[in-house]
Amino acid sequence: MAGFKGKSFLKTSDYTKFELETLIDFSIELKHKKRHQLPHPYLKGKNIALIFEKPSTRTRAAFSVAAKDLGAHVDTYSAGDFHLGVKESIADTAQVLGRMYDGIEFRGFQQAHVETLSLASGVPVWNGLTDEWHPTQMIADFMTLKEHFGTLEGKTLTYVGDARNNVAHDLLVTGAILGVNIHIAAPESAQPDLEVQHLAETFAAKSGAQLHITNNVQEAVYQTDVIYTDVWLSMGRETSEWGSRIELMLPYQVNAELLAQTHQPHTIVMHCLPAFHDLETKTAQTLYQQFGVEAMEITDEVFNGKHSVVFEQAENRLHSIKAILAATLGDVF
Ligand code: CP
Repeated sequence: MAGFKGKSFLKTSDYTKFELETLIDFSIELKHKKRHQLPHPYLKGKNIALIFEKPSTRTRAAFSVAAKDLGAHVDTYSAGDFHLGVKESIADTAQVLGRMYDGIEFRGFQQAHVETLSLASGVPVWNGLTDEWHPTQMIADFMTLKEHFGTLEGKTLTYVGDARNNVAHDLLVTGAILGVNIHIAAPESAQPDLEVQHLAETFAAKSGAQLHITNNVQEAVYQTDVIYTDVWLSMGRETSEWGSRIELMLPYQVNAELLAQTHQPHTIVMHCLPAFHDLETKTAQTLYQQFGVEAMEITDEVFNGKHSVVFEQAENRLHSIKAILAATLGDVF
């Protein structure tokens, strides 16, 4: 793991194709170790701070369990626990935390904040999601692909739905770095930011990944290996936007008809979660009463169907975050 030690994990574009592949392979190795109860205490004696400005289930649980499996002690802080950005600047808070903790995870709004934390703290900082990027999710996602197909070589992932968000942006850029073909099917107003498209094109020119962005969903999913979707409104967006969102996005819902359009029996379905696939949440109930829709970005039939790997993907958050923590803070060799 030479080259990783002491480095922050803020966005995948800070890492080379080889480094990302190393993290993916190390995640698979650590999953094997966990399954076979082989000890891996690479962070024994370390103290880690987990800071969440936004809610989280998977990322929070994965960081907490991963750090503990690695032998570290963890403290978790929510929005409001800290003076961060309210009574004390992020740089000042970072300097304090960096003198007490060996590493810091941060989930928040602005990428600039996680970058400042990293610069000012002097310890590895891990991005647990910002409005711009979701890099730990990417290692889990491409790990899931590699586990399922045995290789990333020649594979095509098609993202369907709202593609102007952190997950779609990150899949486009990370896929381009790794040489995985990325198709995006989204209405024109919800396609990735041009700046992100240009960044991805630069990496694709080097890796050979084929990038294809279109509003034609049938064309995008034809012969794809993976269909990936995410919620139609990201965290923190106004619920008053839902009506127009649903109208715009319904043609991009991942359902049985769309899955059949791949004309491939082996296509897998991924979602970073949480998902609106049934009426078992308060939000889904409210939206059903207002708009009459039983599912949003993915139907329950597909979410729970035989092509879905969403819970394997969720479990892989643990193994991949563990790999990132161990590589950047641990004595792996
Ligand atoms: N996918 C993801 O980041 O999940 P959480 O919001 O639950 O952490």
